[in-house]
Amino acid sequence: MILKKLVTTTCISLFTLFVKAQPTVALTPPMGWNSWNLFEEEVSDKLIREIADALVASGMAQAGYQYIVLDDFWVGGRNANNELFPDPVRFPNGIKSLADYVHSKGLKLGIYSDAASLTCGGVTGSYNFEERDATTFANWGIDYLKYDYCNAPDDMVTAFTRYKKMGDALRNTNRPIVYSICEWGQRKPWLWARAAGGHLWRTTWDMRDTWLSDKYDNGHNGIMNTIEKQKGLEKFAGPGGWNDPDLLVTGLFGKGKSSSLNGRFTGCSLTEYRSQFAIWCMLAAPLMVNLDVRNMDKEVAAILLNKELIAIDQDAAGNQAAVIADENGWQVYKKELSGDRYALCILNKQSSTASFSFDLNDSLKIHGQWNAREIFGNRQLHAVKALTGELNAHDCAIFVLSQVKKLKK
Ligand code: GLA
Repeated sequence: MILKKLVTTTCISLFTLFVKAQPTVALTPPMGWNSWNLFEEEVSDKLIREIADALVASGMAQAGYQYIVLDDFWVGGRNANNELFPDPVRFPNGIKSLADYVHSKGLKLGIYSDAASLTCGGVTGSYNFEERDATTFANWGIDYLKYDYCNAPDDMVTAFTRYKKMGDALRNTNRPIVYSICEWGQRKPWLWARAAGGHLWRTTWDMRDTWLSDKYDNGHNGIMNTIEKQKGLEKFAGPGGWNDPDLLVTGLFGKGKSSSLNGRFTGCSLTEYRSQFAIWCMLAAPLMVNLDVRNMDKEVAAILLNKELIAIDQDAAGNQAAVIADENGWQVYKKELSGDRYALCILNKQSSTASFSFDLNDSLKIHGQWNAREIFGNRQLHAVKALTGELNAHDCAIFVLSQVKKLKK
């Protein structure tokens, strides 16, 4: 009897714990727009309102791009009560008024701070004011915090402690706020970010607007450098916690200050931008665009609004693709989707056009009978045995496989 009671009580407490631990935000990878590369220190109330309008007018909001994140340089300082206030010239109406405007458009507002006294850009950070700042953010109606790690100690224990302090403070506000951890993957945040309250964590240095750079470790990494760094991290991603390979440079065409390294990188081809977007979707990565949505090329809009790709990113199962083949200039990604389906991405890493042929059974070890939908070629393939085609340099093909019939066990 006593034992039965004990077991029941333990089950209930475990269940309560489980229910409490269930994240209420970021059940799928967050999608939105971030101010960093385009505006940097010019970010302002006026520009953000224009971006909010453009997200709605362009159809981006409806496609799921929900969060507008004010990155570095919005802060003016701390007032006599130690409360953060925004730069008075660029944000004359205060952040609450901006949040109200963004909310009135059906969107959500994100903000940025740092786990040290100064941010990367050298304005006031949140260290030692975590609770006060979390309360201020919640009072303003903030829905997302990107928390950077410039000017903070190098070691993992300090990073965890500082991130958890802000994570607890955010949770204590009782406002659902997505918590984005940004220490650039240097201290393996995939191992501890969830425990610190994080919903996404950067895995790499800042993304630059180029396909491949030979200087990754100097923070000059391009799309391919970043992609290579995601291998093996798939086991850490899932609903409520995502690996974040950084912002989408798709459509920037060298216009970002930081992403171009002040003009050093002139941008990528449309094909390369489409590949970045497609692979980010395969990786269940947060989809945070950086481009000027007020003036979007039709071709770029077609990439960012591709419903089938977005559905792969936002798939409810929350799986991140794994690289299942990487040879002779070809990379193959496999992502398990809900409803007994797979998404496969075949990427031509080579610098010239080439043909591919991957036998599902023998080379990709995918058994059974499958129908395939090839997204970019708009092809429907029945009972397919091999995935074949031709791809230009740095292009990719995305196939969604659904079972013809299940294998008999
Ligand atoms: C770091 C981050 C970037 C951006 C800048 C702002 O470099 O990694 O994403 O937030 O700081 O200064």
